[in-house]
Amino acid sequence: MPFLNIAIDGPAGAGKSTIAKAVAKELGILYLDTGAMYRAMALCALRAGVDPNDAARVLPLLEVTDIFAKCIDGVQHTFLNGEDVSGLIRTPEVSKGASDIAVIPAVRVKLAQTQRNIAMESDVVMDGREIGSYVIPQTPYKFFVTASVEERARRRLAELREKGQYNDVSQEEMQSEIAARDHTDSTRAFAPLKRMPDAVLIDTTDMDIPTAVRAVLSRIKR
Ligand code: DC
Repeated sequence: MPFLNIAIDGPAGAGKSTIAKAVAKELGILYLDTGAMYRAMALCALRAGVDPNDAARVLPLLEVTDIFAKCIDGVQHTFLNGEDVSGLIRTPEVSKGASDIAVIPAVRVKLAQTQRNIAMESDVVMDGREIGSYVIPQTPYKFFVTASVEERARRRLAELREKGQYNDVSQEEMQSEIAARDHTDSTRAFAPLKRMPDAVLIDTTDMDIPTAVRAVLSRIKR
């Protein structure tokens, strides 16, 4: 019997990961944050002094890099060459680097293959940008979660400030950072962020998380 694979795509700050985690918990299945894998690859490049935009220098690094994710006590841990880097990949520099490095097709091919292997072996909810269009396009369960850029910036800022970060960044600056990342993610040539015609649209601008989670769950047949 094929495994239950659920794809939740959308731009940064729309609430995808919160919704995906809650859906996975409710169904008692695995949750995979695919963005963390791009972040780990970006960290790898930055540590090596390589610009994540520089494909010619990223490619040799990619060949010798191993990235995998593992669920420990219900929480995803992301490993870079065996080192748990989960606590190091949420900085603004890594966010930008991940978006840049994700433009390189070979990076995407490699990480998508790891993600597909997980989908072939287990029931899983994956969140990302092109899960429904490129990683597991055969799944009948595709969702596109979005919200206005103003609302996404407001949420991201609140989240980061709660952690004591970004205290000197304004709402406007956050909005333009998010808009720039949307642009990079949705205009790249290979597997861009886009809503598939068969993906259910969930706009969380004025919707709370429990309602969005119910909207996803109501469409899943086991
Ligand atoms: O979801 P996130 O903010 O952690 O993702 C960081 C970047 O990684 C995002 O700007 C684009 C890239 N990404 C991607 O291209 N495909 C994915 N499935 C997940 C993330």
